[in-house]
Amino acid sequence: MGVNENNRAGAEKKDKGVKPPETTGASAEVIRALRRNYQDEVVARTYEEERDFREGDVSLHYETEVLALSEALGGVRGEILEVAVGTGRLCRRLRRFGGGYTGLDVSMQMLSEAKKAVCRDANGPWLVRGDAFQLPFKDNHFEAVVGFRFIKHIGPDGRKVIYTELRRVLDDDGLLLFDFYGWRRRSAKKTDDERLTVGALRSEVEENGFRLIKVYGTRHMVCDVVSVPFRWLKIRSGVRAAGWLGVKMLSPLDEFFDRSRGGIAVCKKL
Ligand SMILES: C[S@@+](CC[C@H](N)C(=O)[O-])C[C@H]1O[C@@H](n2cnc3c(N)ncnc32)[C@H](O)[C@@H]1O
Repeated sequence: MGVNENNRAGAEKKDKGVKPPETTGASAEVIRALRRNYQDEVVARTYEEERDFREGDVSLHYETEVLALSEALGGVRGEILEVAVGTGRLCRRLRRFGGGYTGLDVSMQMLSEAKKAVCRDANGPWLVRGDAFQLPFKDNHFEAVVGFRFIKHIGPDGRKVIYTELRRVLDDDGLLLFDFYGWRRRSAKKTDDERLTVGALRSEVEENGFRLIKVYGTRHMVCDVVSVPFRWLKIRSGVRAAGWLGVKMLSPLDEFFDRSRGGIAVCKKL
């Protein structure tokens, strides 16, 4: 099965070279740049190395994301779609969940890296080239959609468009999971549209047909500090324990104080 074939249940048309959607407003240029920037072999080849996402790397942020997503996807029995799957770093760790895992990306270069890294068997994961704004899938097909390091880069007008399309392919009560920028210093250069408070995020998703059911904080400073020796010594179990502290114990504080330094939104289709 090649990367471009999308002949499984749920795929309703062949990829015909991915036509960009009509997007207007301030988000249009960001969306174009996001689509264009990863269509480059060097960018794709070095993507994981530059961000500590390789299998041998021990990254607190990556481990925390995987812990939170594993908890959120634990009850999913139907098919899972990951939009903007990139090099497949999350797909590698999450493909055991659900009743089938499909990864979609617009960049052939990123998909080629994903294909190299993800061992594919009869149950997938299936890698499909396509545009997240015009998904080549039937309505109500997936039980969960994951979209990381993608939705958070897009401004509010673009997010409205993407929510509509993701909602279309999600089944009733389906889950949408994505990461969002919070209020830590490193995201200070971000605009307030990108750095959402939990309350603003809740209102935004509700206006777009979803209910925010859970927020996982993935950037707690306590976890950063606790994990230093484990990261230094490359002890993954210690780093995971620090991530677990953030996911299980500290996440409710993000909702309580309506401030998150960065996290994951779990939303249900209304
Ligand atoms: C920052 S990378 C994130 C990759 C992966 N989700 C992760 O968390 O590592 C952004 C990805 O979005 C993909 N992308 C950008 N625009 C897209 C679009 N309109 N439809 C599908 N994928 C898109 C890029 O090709 C790239 O692989």
